[in-house]
Amino acid sequence: MTFKTSIIRRAQFNAAHRLHNDQWSIEKNNDIFGKCNNPNFHGHNYILEVKVIGEINPDTGYVVDAKILKQIINKEVIDQFDHKNLNLDTSDFRHLIPTAENIARVIYDKIRINLSIDLELKIKLYETENNSVEYPA
Ligand code: NI
Repeated sequence: MTFKTSIIRRAQFNAAHRLHNDQWSIEKNNDIFGKCNNPNFHGHNYILEVKVIGEINPDTGYVVDAKILKQIINKEVIDQFDHKNLNLDTSDFRHLIPTAENIARVIYDKIRINLSIDLELKIKLYETENNSVEYPA
């Protein structure tokens, strides 16, 4: 049998955010989100790993062309999020708390629509050196 192969493309973007739930009191937001609830926002240097899993195309030898994957990531993620305030500058997080978990899900959806149906996609997003999320888990 043959196994599938994955290709991983790494990218970085800098963005500001604030974790805040409108339905909660100031105290509860502060209890749950702590410094991440700072009303004046704060930033992270996000590192994104986009993993595409599939069969190797016998004609090209690729699972997916890395330069096409790079273009998709630039268009769907970097151009939209880099040097932006995620809460204020993007429509994606107007009603969605921009935690790393939710950012990874949004990125998944944006990239997924650009990929062939027979390819699997996994998103890994590092918010700090020590904290990362994966979607789907
Ligand atoms: Ni934060």
